[in-house]
Amino acid sequence: MSLAELQQLERTSVIGSYARMPVEFVRGEGARLWDEQGNEYLDFLCGIGVTNLGHCHPRVVEAVRAQVGRLMHVSNLFYTEPAMRLADRLSRSSLGGKVFFCNSGAEASEAAIKLARKARPRGEVVVVHGAFHGRTYGALSATPQEAKQAPFAPLVPGFRAVAAEPGELRAAVDGHTAAVLLEPIQGESGVHPLSGELLHAARTACDEHGAALVFDEVQCGMGRTGSLWAYEQTGVRPDAITTAKALGGGLPIGALVTGERLADVFAPGDHASTFAGGPVVAAAALAALELTDDAELLASVRELGARLTAGLERLAHIRAVRGRGLMLACELDVQAPALVRRALLEQRLVLNATGPATLRLLPPLIVGEAEVEEALARLALALEG
Ligand SMILES: Cc1ncc(COP(=O)(O)O)c(C=O)c1O
Repeated sequence: MSLAELQQLERTSVIGSYARMPVEFVRGEGARLWDEQGNEYLDFLCGIGVTNLGHCHPRVVEAVRAQVGRLMHVSNLFYTEPAMRLADRLSRSSLGGKVFFCNSGAEASEAAIKLARKARPRGEVVVVHGAFHGRTYGALSATPQEAKQAPFAPLVPGFRAVAAEPGELRAAVDGHTAAVLLEPIQGESGVHPLSGELLHAARTACDEHGAALVFDEVQCGMGRTGSLWAYEQTGVRPDAITTAKALGGGLPIGALVTGERLADVFAPGDHASTFAGGPVVAAAALAALELTDDAELLASVRELGARLTAGLERLAHIRAVRGRGLMLACELDVQAPALVRRALLEQRLVLNATGPATLRLLPPLIVGEAEVEEALARLALALEG
């Protein structure tokens, strides 16, 4: 089918909640994508932070192949080895507690909110302005952004949004607080690392009042910032983290991972999801997690992140670069959405704009030096245009 035919089908049959670029991708390998005409693209967006290991990583593909013909689904009324092994690996690689599986980042937020509320009944959830925790009602209620929330009022009660400022956050936490929910590096708002002072203030306030500190690592986790989890670089240990996006190596899975304190809050019947932790996605995620939890790969993320940052800082029209590892954003003095379109259609470089002047780069963690230089060259040409 031609692109024009796909666009016609979209017009007649797809609810218009996405603004798609006029490109049809048919194949991916490593940091590269190909469209239906055989044109090759350099992917510095990775889905949106999903294909961290590159497209179709052979070990993830092999894990899926081995599982998919053996057993695709049974309910969570039974055991499967991939789910149990993945939970064990996730727990050992992070907070040492227990795991609840789900299918997406938003569902991981929902699980975190429910768990915190069960631990402190009727408690409030404190979130920070600019945060993004997902689009379902609980997650949306934890996402204090007027444009995303307003059309869908009334929202879920019991959320309080504060500025990303230590004093304000401390003042908002008291004996009625169930959780403070934060992204250590805010992704959708344009890659804004929260300050160490804020994260430490959140830890102290939660400790004083017995509230749960939950870090949303859906975007900044799974190696993206140069450590397996972003919290490892902050000096603050949360009581739970959420993960999704890159966890499945390209397949949909999410998880809430607790530390010891919150490990046994849920009892049978409290929370569930039909497809959660299914054997195929769990096998893919186990492979993805093993590949990502690798000192050499994580060192390369830090090194190439520094190289990419330095290269971006040298380009015309880029005013500032921020982020950590390979989770980066640039402030531009030109329109970011137009630049993203030009980069895609003229230079075959996949990027994304998080605001009118903010460009986001989420290249695969397996990217090489030559690909970083190639992306910088393609971006320089797009910026000239
Ligand atoms: C930090 C964060 N949390 C939650 C979500 C929601 O994830 P999903 O789109 O898988 O529901 C996202 C998605 O961008 C995210 O960046």
